[in-house]
Amino acid sequence: MERPRFLKCAPMLFVMYCVFAMSFLAIEATTNITTDQSSLLALKAHITNDPHNLLANNWTSSTSVCNWVGITCDSQNSRVVALNLNSMSLTGTVPPHIGNLSFLVQLRLRNNSFHGSLPIELGQLRRLEILHLGLNSFQGEIPSWLGSLPKLQNLSLFINNFTGSIPPSLGNITTLRNLKLWNNNLQGNIPEEIGNLINLEIFDLYGNQQISGTIPPHIGNLSFLVQLRLGINSFHGSLPVELVHLCRLEVLQLGYNSFQGEIPSWLGSLPKLQMLYLHVNTFTGSIPPSLGNITTLRILQLWNNNIQGNIPEEIGNLINLETFNLYGNQHISGPIPSTIFNISKLEYIELEMNRLSGPIPSTIGLAFNLKGLWLWENELNGIIPDSISNASQLTILELQSNSFSGPIPTTTNDLFSGNLRNLRVLKLFSNQLTAESSTQELMNFISSLANCKILRVLSLSNNPLSSTLPVSIGNLSTTLREFRAIGCKIKGSIPHEVGNLSNLTTLNLGNNELTGSVPTAIGKMRMLQVLSLAGNKLQGSIPNEVCHLRNLGDLYLSGNKLSGPIPACLGDITSLQKLYLDSNSFNSTIPASLWSIKDILRLNLSTNSLNGHLPLDIGKLRVVYEIDLSGNELSGDIPSSIGDTNLLGEENLSAKKECILSILQVAVECTVEMPENRLDIANVLGALKNIKTKFEKSLART
Ligand SMILES: *[C@@H]1O[C@H](CO)[C@@H](O)[C@H](O)[C@H]1NC(C)=O
Ligand SMILES: *[C@@H]1O[C@H](CO)[C@@H](O)[C@H](O)[C@H]1NC(C)=O
Ligand SMILES: *[C@@H]1O[C@H](CO)[C@@H](O)[C@H](O)[C@H]1NC(C)=O
Ligand SMILES: *[C@@H]1O[C@H](CO)[C@@H](O)[C@H](O)[C@H]1NC(C)=O
Ligand SMILES: *[C@@H]1O[C@H](CO)[C@@H](O)[C@H](O)[C@H]1NC(C)=O
Ligand SMILES: *[C@@H]1O[C@H](CO)[C@@H](O)[C@H](O)[C@H]1NC(C)=O
Ligand SMILES: *[C@@H]1O[C@H](CO)[C@@H](O)[C@H](O)[C@H]1NC(C)=O
Ligand SMILES: *[C@@H]1O[C@H](CO)[C@@H](O)[C@H](O)[C@H]1NC(C)=O
Ligand SMILES: *[C@@H]1O[C@H](CO)[C@@H](O)[C@H](O)[C@H]1NC(C)=O
Ligand SMILES: *[C@@H]1O[C@H](CO)[C@@H](O)[C@H](O)[C@H]1NC(C)=O
Ligand SMILES: *[C@@H]1O[C@H](CO)[C@@H](O)[C@H](O)[C@H]1NC(C)=O
Ligand SMILES: *[C@@H]1O[C@H](CO)[C@@H](O)[C@H](O)[C@H]1NC(C)=O
Repeated sequence: MERPRFLKCAPMLFVMYCVFAMSFLAIEATTNITTDQSSLLALKAHITNDPHNLLANNWTSSTSVCNWVGITCDSQNSRVVALNLNSMSLTGTVPPHIGNLSFLVQLRLRNNSFHGSLPIELGQLRRLEILHLGLNSFQGEIPSWLGSLPKLQNLSLFINNFTGSIPPSLGNITTLRNLKLWNNNLQGNIPEEIGNLINLEIFDLYGNQQISGTIPPHIGNLSFLVQLRLGINSFHGSLPVELVHLCRLEVLQLGYNSFQGEIPSWLGSLPKLQMLYLHVNTFTGSIPPSLGNITTLRILQLWNNNIQGNIPEEIGNLINLETFNLYGNQHISGPIPSTIFNISKLEYIELEMNRLSGPIPSTIGLAFNLKGLWLWENELNGIIPDSISNASQLTILELQSNSFSGPIPTTTNDLFSGNLRNLRVLKLFSNQLTAESSTQELMNFISSLANCKILRVLSLSNNPLSSTLPVSIGNLSTTLREFRAIGCKIKGSIPHEVGNLSNLTTLNLGNNELTGSVPTAIGKMRMLQVLSLAGNKLQGSIPNEVCHLRNLGDLYLSGNKLSGPIPACLGDITSLQKLYLDSNSFNSTIPASLWSIKDILRLNLSTNSLNGHLPLDIGKLRVVYEIDLSGNELSGDIPSSIGDTNLLGEENLSAKKECILSILQVAVECTVEMPENRLDIANVLGALKNIKTKFEKSLART
């Protein structure tokens, strides 16, 4: 059995510790296995909830403590050396008696609901090497007496509610390998003394929010450090050059702080770095080419900083890179280096929201493992290279808001043909892409996309496609949820086959040049929540099948040449919140059924040829933000029931009547707030004032 090592206490540094330790010598001399048993029974008595009765039926005086669950004794069964109650769903506190377990080497209470503070008596556990208290609700300060545990190697206090600052005394525990304090409520600076922990391998302060100050240069002395995690805190200042000595560092996590200055080029000489997280800070300057030296690097996160300049070619040397993220630096410019796609392990590239220009390098065909490519909001141009079809693992491709041009590929230059079977999200909107000029059809593009069996989102909006929709649109995967092609100069009629897209929730073909009628097959898209065909040249009446869309929330058919009656069955779509039928040629009376739509927020029927009286039961509308019936041929008096309506409520009745009056007689926009919410009457009055202005203006016009 090990003897107490008090004779080793010669150095001045440990004098205090010796005095402290010797005061417990007497206790240790008098303890034995019976003390251990009573200490553990004291712990049991402090457990207030043991839902699985793990201790209740097991920790009994009738059996030896060495047979108790969670207890390990030494080889002679003479003393308890380990207490492990991990993940037992226990609630309770740690009594001071635990300090009597004088031979304890490991104390593990991880993942329970222990609370309260740590009793000072734990400082008597001279032999303790492992103290794991993570995932509990311990509170109070991290005790400075921990610094007097001479053999402690692993100290895990993560995910608790410890407050206060990190005690400098921890710097005394030179045996410490592992210091995990993440996700607590600690604040203050990192004490310089941490630099004394020459055996430290993991130093983790992640997610404390308020630990502040700069990184002390002394951290650079920790030559065994493998992980340094300071993310989600309030650090500032630049990175001290002394960190260059951390030649075993694999993880440097500094994200979500206020670090500043340039990204130091010496990072390039950390020979084992695998993960470098510098995101969400205020780093400036450019990306040092030396980063290309860290061939061990797997994750490079530099997003949301103020970095500018080009992406260095040397990044292409990072043969182990899996994730590369420069998102939202605003000022990173120049071309995407062709060498990047030569990295065969690359899975995710996020370069969106920068000022990159030039084309996508054709080397993208070498990125066999690429799963996500985000390039949106840059100044990229040129064609989308054919070779992208080699990137067969691609799941998310977001190229929107750039200046890409040329035809959307077809079978002859088979961009998306066949290979991109894993594509889930394809966003090409706001570019200069066209349809293949010879056919004037999106045919081949759409046909090849039918191979993407898990496609969920397809957005082509704001491209000058100037083409027609092929019937093969019906072959797109039923997994498709969103299809948007707004403002694409799409001509011709809407194919009936669109009805096959049975899981579509959003279909937006607004602001095109579509002709013909609204296909009855639209009624088959039962999951549809948003349907917009506004701003086209559609004719005929609204087919009653539209009323089958019982999940529809928004229906936009404004600005077409639709005519005939407004189908009364629209009133059956109880989910409808927005109904825009304005600027058409509907010529019926307003069907009374519309007033029974429970949740309608906005109703715009303006600029049609609607006639007749305003239905008396307008007051049935429960929730309304906007009604616009202007530009019709409505007539009639204010319905006498109007004073009873929810629409009006009690307050300011006369002002609101004026508003309703304006609907009926002058027919301008009327905005009424939700009466249930009791919104500030000033808002209502503001809206009414607006109406009055409009009212006066429209009088002036006539
Ligand atoms: C431990 O650390 C503290 C603070 O750094 C120091 O004052 C003390 O002398 C050290 N020694 C012992 C044995 O606690
Ligand atoms: C207590 O639990 C241990 C470990 O599960 C088991 O070996 C022992 O038999 C149990 N003792 C009693 C009295 O249930
Ligand atoms: C924590 O303990 C619970 C209950 O025993 C268990 O289900 C869960 O997996 C544990 N979680 C961790 C992170 O160990
Ligand atoms: C164990 O510790 C408690 C509290 O620290 C103390 O009151 C008690 O005397 C100790 N028992 C033994 C047997 O040493
Ligand atoms: C203590 O921490 C080190 C370094 O992280 C680790 O390798 C070791 O397995 C840990 N020891 C125990 C007993 O948990
Ligand atoms: C942590 O401590 C704070 C302050 O004492 C308290 O408001 C909060 O509820 C505690 N959180 C947990 C999870 O115990
Ligand atoms: C640790 O680092 C500090 C600051 O970089 C330095 O002054 C000190 O001499 C170093 N200590 C040891 C023991 O290397
Ligand atoms: C690291 O990279 C820089 C710039 O790319 C280069 O000049 C230097 O020689 C490299 N250093 C090492 C040690 O490879
Ligand atoms: C791509 O990498 C290979 C070796 O992995 C190399 O031979 C080739 O020159 C590289 N190409 C580019 C464009 O960097
Ligand atoms: C596409 O992949 C094949 C190997 O499957 C390769 O031979 C070809 O060069 C790649 N194309 C491009 C343009 O990178
Ligand atoms: C799509 O809708 C069909 C019914 O039309 C349904 O059977 C299927 O589970 C849905 N598929 C997905 C991926 O949501
Ligand atoms: C509505 O318009 C259609 C065609 O424009 C016409 O046939 C019909 O008679 C009109 N109905 C009414 C009530 O004006």
